[in-house]
Amino acid sequence: MAINTIILGIETSCDDTAASIVRNGQVLSNIVSTQSEHALFGGVVPELASRAHQRLIVPVVEQALRDAGISRNQLSAIAVTFGPGLAGSLLVGVSFAKSLAMALGIPVIGINHLDGHIASLMLSDPSPVAPYLCLIVSGGHTQIMHVRQDASRELLGKTRDDAAGEAFDKVAKILGLGFPGGPEIEKISLTGDPNYHRFPRTRLKGYDYSFSGIKTNLLYYLNSFKGDEREELLRKHLPDICASFQEAVIDMLAAPIESALDNLGLQNVGLVGGVSANKSLRDRFVQIAAIRGGVCAVPHIQYSMDNAAMIAVSGFDKFGRNQFSPLTLSAVPSLAFS
Ligand code: KG4
Ligand code: ZN
Repeated sequence: MAINTIILGIETSCDDTAASIVRNGQVLSNIVSTQSEHALFGGVVPELASRAHQRLIVPVVEQALRDAGISRNQLSAIAVTFGPGLAGSLLVGVSFAKSLAMALGIPVIGINHLDGHIASLMLSDPSPVAPYLCLIVSGGHTQIMHVRQDASRELLGKTRDDAAGEAFDKVAKILGLGFPGGPEIEKISLTGDPNYHRFPRTRLKGYDYSFSGIKTNLLYYLNSFKGDEREELLRKHLPDICASFQEAVIDMLAAPIESALDNLGLQNVGLVGGVSANKSLRDRFVQIAAIRGGVCAVPHIQYSMDNAAMIAVSGFDKFGRNQFSPLTLSAVPSLAFS
């Protein structure tokens, strides 16, 4: 490997336009421009997202280069998310990365967004110790990966319907809170009682998840109060309802992980993706690993939410293995985990 390997990472799979410069595995800059236009709609509007990426990609990449004190000509390769994600959003990042790589005469490296989230663990302290289970938990994904000692991976379980972050976002919308819902619910929960109302915990056989039931359950619970009674409930007990919902989601995320750890005789866990920004979830996972004599690795919050440093770090790893992509690389919205 060249002594100075400098990777530009680009991430545009959903509603964050992000670019990062990583030199020899060290993050020099990490720029994320979160598109605020979606907040009005309580969810990501694909057409608006791709237009915003188009507008933001050049300034965001330029800012990443400037912050790192790196010029374009010093780049060794460009790593870019090519799936899974929104087609129109991915296309902006992939087209931009290929064009710049072509102009500079350097390779492009296509990165699976989920590989990027797992790679964010390389930026965590402590680092994960393989073998471990990695929970990828975001607005689009809820998956358990078994990462073996030889770095090979196996998908153990995934959500059959909504992702955990999606449940936070949908419940926030029902409660009239802002988007994204996860941080809002976490903030309000701080003063709430997690035992105020017990929402049923969906637990499927094996290691799969389902989060559509809890959202409906919360809606039915609210609808069982009418008119003034409902207003009174929300006025007095919004923090309690948020905390009870959050506790239920955390229990549901923890249960399959705990049984998988015990069935496979593992102790270590990694927690990545936007929802892993949640402090109560982090605390629970630290506890789950500690009880078993293991360690829980969680990246710093700036690397848990969608970001390009995780894409650049994953690209740095592939660069060292000469795993480059052809310039025919295309966006694959439903890219499976390989
Ligand atoms: O990884 P990410 O930035 O984008 C996707 O790939 O989806 O994750 C965004 C998701 C959103 O659903 C958001 O509500 C959730 O992560 N989230 C949280 C928290 N911060 C972000 N959920 C719970 N607690 C948080 N503190
Ligand atoms: Zn993500």
